[in-house]
Amino acid sequence: MDRYAVIGQPIAHSRSPAIHAQFARQTDQVLSYEAIEIAPDALPARLQALHAAGYRGLNVTLPHKVAVMALCETVSGRAQRAGAVNTLIRTDQGWHGDNTDGEGFIRDLQRLGFGVAGRRVLVLGAGGAVRGILEPLLAAAPAELVVSNRNPWKPEALAEAFKPLGTIVPRTHLSLKGDRYDLVVNATAAGHSGRMAALPGPLLARGGDCYDLSYGAAFAPFRAWSEAQGAARIADGLGMLVGQAAAAFEAWRGVVPDRLDAVIARLRE
Ligand SMILES: NC(=O)c1ccc[n+]([C@@H]2O[C@H](COP(=O)([O-])OP(=O)(O)OC[C@H]3O[C@@H](n4cnc5c(N)ncnc54)[C@H](OP(=O)(O)O)[C@@H]3O)[C@@H](O)[C@H]2O)c1
Repeated sequence: MDRYAVIGQPIAHSRSPAIHAQFARQTDQVLSYEAIEIAPDALPARLQALHAAGYRGLNVTLPHKVAVMALCETVSGRAQRAGAVNTLIRTDQGWHGDNTDGEGFIRDLQRLGFGVAGRRVLVLGAGGAVRGILEPLLAAAPAELVVSNRNPWKPEALAEAFKPLGTIVPRTHLSLKGDRYDLVVNATAAGHSGRMAALPGPLLARGGDCYDLSYGAAFAPFRAWSEAQGAARIADGLGMLVGQAAAAFEAWRGVVPDRLDAVIARLRE
């Protein structure tokens, strides 16, 4: 049987085995998918061992998404630009690294009907996840793409790094005062400590949408902020998680899992 796994530390909480089991059932694929805990210092040897054992593909989660890049035979352009790998595809020589987070994000916006083209888009945060979503966001042709962060230097660096792909306007949270956006994307980790980034007053245009990369309990502060802004629609990042998994599954199996709503609904249960 073809074997797949997600690697990380800790890993027991991972939803990936449940997601891929549902994709396999939906698409009549016979495969196994496990969660494997790997400590950072063991990563090079364990990756080699998993290749030798015949694994066909791996998902990579914290804390290995950056370190694994140096251990790949080849790395896709989008993973290089994202500065991280979340999917490994077996080749004869070793592992090919890819990053499907941005694709998962943009697929989820499409699933929800949250438009990007011609709209003013504000991204809050400038960490690893933002690096992964900027390329597909630029490709979706927003009227303006603003990145704002607590640490003001990070958006400047991102704007410079992504210049060849399009214009990103770097801002500080405070300087957003008085602006209005059609889509606000929360990509800060603030929700994990029960907080919302400190923002100045109303920022959402009438009819605007709000999307949080976080899900579960970490989604609550941004949801409350979005409601107070009068958002037309509000979504969490569970669909992005399922979307990035679907893109990995497609790369491994050549089959597109297309009933993502059913998988997301099962996870919410
Ligand atoms: N749905 C999915 O599939 C998916 C995938 C990847 C990530 N995520 C989620 O996306 C979020 C960001 O992940 P990441 O990997 O980018 O994390 P990261 O690299 O650690 O970056 C964290 C970001 O959050 C900001 N931040 C943290 N606490 C803050 C606070 N109290 N106020 C304002 N800003 C704060 C940081 O600002 P500074 O630079 O100023 O510190 C930084 O921009 C997490 O919630 C993660 O769970 C979801």
